[in-house]
Formats: sequence, structure tokens, C-alpha cells
Amino acid sequence: MTTEGRFAGRHVLVTGATSGIGRATAAAFAREGAHVVALGRRSSRLEVLAREAPAGSIEPVVLDMRDRTALRSLIGRVASRGLDVLVNNAGVAFVEPILEVSDEHWDDTLETNLTAVFVASQEAGRHMVAAGRGVIVNVASVDAFVAESPFGAYCPSKAGVVLLTKMLAFELGPFGIRCNALCPGMTVTEMTEPDLDDEFETAYLPRIPLGRFSQAEEQAEPVLFLASDAASYVNGATLEVDGGQLSGFWYAPRYAPGYEPPRSTSAR
Ligand SMILES: NC(=O)c1ccc[n+]([C@@H]2O[C@H](COP(=O)([O-])OP(=O)(O)OC[C@H]3O[C@@H](n4cnc5c(N)ncnc54)[C@H](OP(=O)(O)O)[C@@H]3O)[C@@H](O)[C@H]2O)c1
Repeated sequence: MTTEGRFAGRHVLVTGATSGIGRATAAAFAREGAHVVALGRRSSRLEVLAREAPAGSIEPVVLDMRDRTALRSLIGRVASRGLDVLVNNAGVAFVEPILEVSDEHWDDTLETNLTAVFVASQEAGRHMVAAGRGVIVNVASVDAFVAESPFGAYCPSKAGVVLLTKMLAFELGPFGIRCNALCPGMTVTEMTEPDLDDEFETAYLPRIPLGRFSQAEEQAEPVLFLASDAASYVNGATLEVDGGQLSGFWYAPRYAPGYEPPRSTSAR
């Protein structure tokens, strides 16, 4: 574990650290000097993460977030040693339009994406309040604000995460605890890679003003910002990291970049 960096000596817990945004976030905290408890179900992935990080910086923990008792007990154990930052990142997404969402996938999505965030935040929050300090960062999505079809269970789960974030910010702020949500746009990870063929890119990329998808590291850095002292007055916020996707939409394809509209000849 390095003794230098923005998070030197801080204790951080990242859920969903076996791949994608969570892995990049755990690695970035470790590089910045933190001791990181890294959660996920795939132990081999966690071992690789620990091997590649500065020695001793990653503590791998294999856990299914849907097991509330195990989650409470783990967070309690970690937080009793001191927990400065909790990053609730683990998530799942099923490609199902609302009329086809199965009960099983609805439950899985809500348990993983929302209930586990509540359980971890409540348990960590109790310890943080007692300690008088702490930061929670919840990874929501741009899909918390708009319906993205066909993710019938995913979008409502992420909308719940945004309001849970605001509840935590409102009720724990007076105790010196900050809570904010990162809302990523389309990011290249195991969750999205199966979709990312040429046809999908042709249809999707015009919706993103920056004209490309995000890399996981481009989401990790804003998580570190929200967790850092640089964000000391940021509480209850949602940070959209989406290349500008939610800032607007093209009125019609003929107004897409590169199209030159005919000049108006009418007098003003
Ligand atoms: N990629 C995007 O475009 C995008 C956009 C907006 C928001 N997000 C959000 O960003 C977060 C990370 O997603 P990602 O794209 O990085 O996906 P990912 O690569 O599929 O990673 C998801 C992580 O969640 C963990 N996880 C899932 N279910 C779990 C469970 N029951 N118990 C413990 N861990 C569990 C997975 O670990 P194991 O499988 O090892 O358990 C994995 O580490 C998610 O909350 C996602 O909704 C992603």
C-alpha cells in the first residue's frame, strides 16, 4: 500500500469490483493510496485485481450483495475498523421490455441495484454518523432520468438509487456525511459489450454529442472526485458523465452533425 496519493490512509469499500466501472474505481483508489475492500462474486477476478494493485492495497471479499444478512455483517465488520468511503457500484441489467420483465429478473434487479445500496448505506451510515465523517457514492445511471427501452426493470431501479441518494444526503448531511450519485452514460464494460456491434453503434452514437462511448476509467475518476475533499460542498448531487447525452436530442436526422441546412431567403 502506497503512503502517497489523494486517498493515502483512507479506507474505501467498492462493490462490484470484479469488472468494469467498479474494477477501474477500486484500482484508482488503490493507486491513490487507499486501502480498498473490493467486493464481488468472482474470486479469481478479485485476486487478479489485488495482484495488479500496489501491494496490500486491495482486500478481496467474495459476497453476493443480495444476501442482506451477509452484506450487513460485512459492512459492519469493515466499518467498525473505519470506513471513509463507500462506493455502491454493483449492478445488473436485463434486456427486457416492461411487458416481458419476469418476476425473477425484477427481483434480481431491484435487490442488486437498489436494496443492496440501501442496506450497505444504512449499515455504513450508522458507523459514519458515529464517527462524524464519511462519504457515500452511488453509481446510478442516465437511465435514472429517462426511460431507455428495453430495460424495463433497470431504469426504475436506478431512479430509486437517485432518490435514495438524496434521502441519505438530506438525513446524514447534518452529521457531516456526504452522499452523491454518479450517473454514467453508455460505458464499455461486460454489461454493455454484448450490444456493441456496428449496427448498435450506428444507431446509438448520434445520441452522444462527444460521439463515442465512455471507458470505465472515465467513470472512475469522477467517483474519486465525488469521494474527495475537492467535493467538500457537493451533497445530494447527481453527476451525469454521459458525453452530453442528456443535454438534448437531435430534432431530426437532417440536423445531425455534418448536415448543412439550406439558407433561409426570407427577410427578417
Ligand atoms: N456500463 C454502462 O454503460 C453503465 C451505464 C450506466 C450505469 N452503469 C452502472 O455502473 C455499475 C457498474 O456496471 P458495469 O458497466 O461496470 O458492469 P459490469 O462490468 O457488468 O460489472 C458489474 C459488477 O457488479 C457486480 N455484481 C453484480 N451482481 C452482483 C451481486 N449480486 N453481488 C455482488 N456483486 C454483483 C459484478 O460482480 P460479479 O459478477 O463478480 O458478482 C461486477 O463486478 C452498475 O451499477 C451499472 O448499472 C453502467
